[in-house]
Amino acid sequence: MTGLRLLKDQHKRITALFHNTVAASAGDKRTQFEQLAELLSVHLLIEERHLYPCVRMLGGDAAEIDRTTTDAHGIIKRVLVELFELSASEEVFDARLKVLSELTEQHFEEEENDLFPRVIERCDKAEIDALGLLLEASAQSFEQQGVARERMALDVLG
Ligand SMILES: [Fe+2]
Repeated sequence: MTGLRLLKDQHKRITALFHNTVAASAGDKRTQFEQLAELLSVHLLIEERHLYPCVRMLGGDAAEIDRTTTDAHGIIKRVLVELFELSASEEVFDARLKVLSELTEQHFEEEENDLFPRVIERCDKAEIDALGLLLEASAQSFEQQGVARERMALDVLG
C-alpha cells in the first residue's frame, strides 16, 4: 500500500468497527470494542509518529491544520482511554462510545478533506510513497507487538 492509502483504508475499517460495536449484542460488545480500540490506537500512533512531523515541516496553513488535528487526537485519546476502564454493560459506556464515534468521524473528515490534500499538493510522489512505507512499517510493528493500547494509555495518563 502506498502513500496515504493506508490511512484512508484504516479510516474505513475503524468506521466499520464503530458500527459493529454499536450494533453488537451486550455479550459481544466488549470484544468488538477491543478490535476497534486496537486499530484506532495503532492509527493515532502512526499518524503522530510519521504524518504529523511531516506536516509540521510543510509549514503555512498545513501546519495550522496540523495543530487542529493534534488537538483532536488529544481529545480522542482521552475518551478512548476512559472507555478502556469501563465495562460494556455500563450505561455510560454507550454514551462515551457515541462521543468517540462522532469525534473520530469529524476528525477523519478533516484529515481527508483538508490535511491529506495539502500533503499531496506539497510533496512529490516519492516523498508520499516513502511516508506510506514508514506508516505501514510502524503499523505492522505495533500490530505484531500488540502494544498500541498500552502506549496510548501511557500518552494520556503519563
Ligand atoms: Fe488523525
